[in-house]
Amino acid sequence: MKTITRSEEETIKVAEDLARRLDKGYLVLLSGELGAGKTRFVQGLAKGLGISDAVTSPTFTIVNEYRGRLPLFHIDLYRLERFPEEDIDLDEMLEKGVAAVEWWGKDRSFFEQYKPRVIVSIRVVSESEREIDIAWEDSSEK
Ligand SMILES: Nc1ncnc2c1ncn2[C@@H]1O[C@H](COP(=O)(O)OP(=O)(O)OP(=O)(O)O)[C@@H](O)[C@H]1O
Ligand SMILES: [Mg+2]
Repeated sequence: MKTITRSEEETIKVAEDLARRLDKGYLVLLSGELGAGKTRFVQGLAKGLGISDAVTSPTFTIVNEYRGRLPLFHIDLYRLERFPEEDIDLDEMLEKGVAAVEWWGKDRSFFEQYKPRVIVSIRVVSESEREIDIAWEDSSEK
């Protein structure tokens, strides 16, 4: 599904609606150039999960954890080469809640085994417009 948003608030709203359909075990994978709106989208996910804490990018930590209807784990691979399996346990996070990963394309093959997942690709159309492509990939047994 593709949608165009015309402000960061609209992007947050799209993510908030998506978050209401998420369940424990879902991985949300975000791509898009620098400043595309990946972190804004994660802020919307947090809002939709009933998280009131301010969501900032996990720049100096590998993962930020927020408590809501489901816990949200926010990971950003921008400064990394690949998913740091030796430091964080994605399976454990997905047993507890939802994980959102910015710059997942840096370790595309690592995420291949994970389902269900939602792939969110954000394209910059103009200064304030973004095209957001959302693809749900559910596990076969669902
Ligand atoms: N329609 C829109 N949706 C989302 N953000 C928008 C939109 N229009 C303008 N913006 C602006 O784009 C920027 C998006 O920043 P954000 O930190 O979310 O990007 P990012 O993709 O996480 O970047 P990075 O790769 O650096 O982590 C913000 O400054 C926001 O105000
Ligand atoms: Mg970001």
